[in-house]
Amino acid sequence: MIGKLNHVAIAVSDINAAAAVYRDTLGATVTRAEDLPEHGVTTVFIELPNTKIELLQALGENSPIQRFVDKNPAGGIHHICYEVDDMKQAIVQLTEQGATVLGDGKPKTGAHGKPVIFLHPKDFCGTLIELEQV
Ligand code: CO
Repeated sequence: MIGKLNHVAIAVSDINAAAAVYRDTLGATVTRAEDLPEHGVTTVFIELPNTKIELLQALGENSPIQRFVDKNPAGGIHHICYEVDDMKQAIVQLTEQGATVLGDGKPKTGAHGKPVIFLHPKDFCGTLIELEQV
């Protein structure tokens, strides 16, 4: 069902400091910070030859990552995103197998303008999983 690793997301409390670590210390290509108010996050992407790292900082009052950042003030891996070809089929298959799709169970438009869902970490080795239809 899953294909390529699309990105690994790291939630941080200071996205500019985190971007500087990737740009200056690790010598990576770093995009400009972008506010996504509808998702409650600010994002920066680190472009790697084989995948991306998504840096996330909480934006606004009810950011979905605020609790995570409070628990992990130094930052931490928040989720892993895998690509799928057919989101509808993936949801049917996963639901049949007892996995929990977060929210209302329907795909939302993700940070890259493509349909995404999130899967509960309890079903996937303690890791929050994002699926993105590519
Ligand atoms: Co993501």
